[in-house]
Amino acid sequence: MNFDRHRRMRRTAFMRDMVRETRVTKEDFIYPIFVVEADDVRKEVPSMKGVFQVSLNLLEEELEEVSRLGIKSVIFFGIPNEKDPEGTGAYHDHGVVQEACRISKRLHPDILVILDTCLCEYTDHGHCGLIDSETKDVDNDSTLPLLVQTAVSQAGAGADIIAPSNMMDGFVSEIRKGLDDNGFSHIPIMSYGIKYASKFYGPFRDAADSTPSFGDRRTYQMDPANRLEAQRELESDLEEGCDMMIVKPALSYLDIIRDVRNNSNVPVVAYNVSGEYSMTRTAIDMGLLDEEVIMEQMVSMKRAGADMIITYFAKDLCRMIDEGME
Ligand code: PBG
Repeated sequence: MNFDRHRRMRRTAFMRDMVRETRVTKEDFIYPIFVVEADDVRKEVPSMKGVFQVSLNLLEEELEEVSRLGIKSVIFFGIPNEKDPEGTGAYHDHGVVQEACRISKRLHPDILVILDTCLCEYTDHGHCGLIDSETKDVDNDSTLPLLVQTAVSQAGAGADIIAPSNMMDGFVSEIRKGLDDNGFSHIPIMSYGIKYASKFYGPFRDAADSTPSFGDRRTYQMDPANRLEAQRELESDLEEGCDMMIVKPALSYLDIIRDVRNNSNVPVVAYNVSGEYSMTRTAIDMGLLDEEVIMEQMVSMKRAGADMIITYFAKDLCRMIDEGME
């Protein structure tokens, strides 16, 4: 008989393990935490079962669990007490994520802290920058200094990595310069430079209370139909000095993850976004899918070329790994 015997290497579990090409470990996960400035809140996000908004004064418990499960890094998103048109809460030295970072570093210096540099959680209009009063669009160049100020205050609070997600042009070079000028040349930038204008962010905007009050984000986030445009964003960010590149969302954009892997030599991060989480969570909770699909999704992102994954499933995944699942 004249054909290949592919099944030879699938015959036993030992053999399958040996030839496995992709592995998921706890080191791959970055866990997002929604931190509330007001006291005594621990509230499940209605559109994201299993994900909670947690007050600064209750953060200790949350971090305890994260640490116990073996999660190595977290990214904080803030829900401030007050919002204004300029998003001043984002660059306040004692803003909510700056304080979350200080608490985390004090209690668990071993947990790596990433802070998201954007204004949308802090502006009363919900956009990622300053609004031009004439065009009613986000103004790129006047927003940049505020993002720099935000990044510098985040690094000052002890953040290990700065992750700008605002999609203004030039944010990587401006933030790099701002960090360097303020004594933070050792702090890496993880750029969300490839961020699509996606409907998969819906539940996050519930959780972070950051839905735009008018319009949408299509003048700064990318059109989901474009692949070459991602290549142009990647080239700019590399030239401007980004250290790591995020692709967001992840599961419907695995081709983009693969492109970034093939066309750069920086670590690639997949952002497994809120809508992806909620879809999968709901299907599992309804008994339509087995919980193991979560791991299959992680394997798929890594197989596509991701080195790290920002995921709301990090806790579940650590439990699954502890129970022996690969
Ligand atoms: C913006 C930001 C967003 C997400 C992470 N950072 C939302 C947006 O662009 O509307 C979305 C993450 C998710 O959906 O899980 N600061």
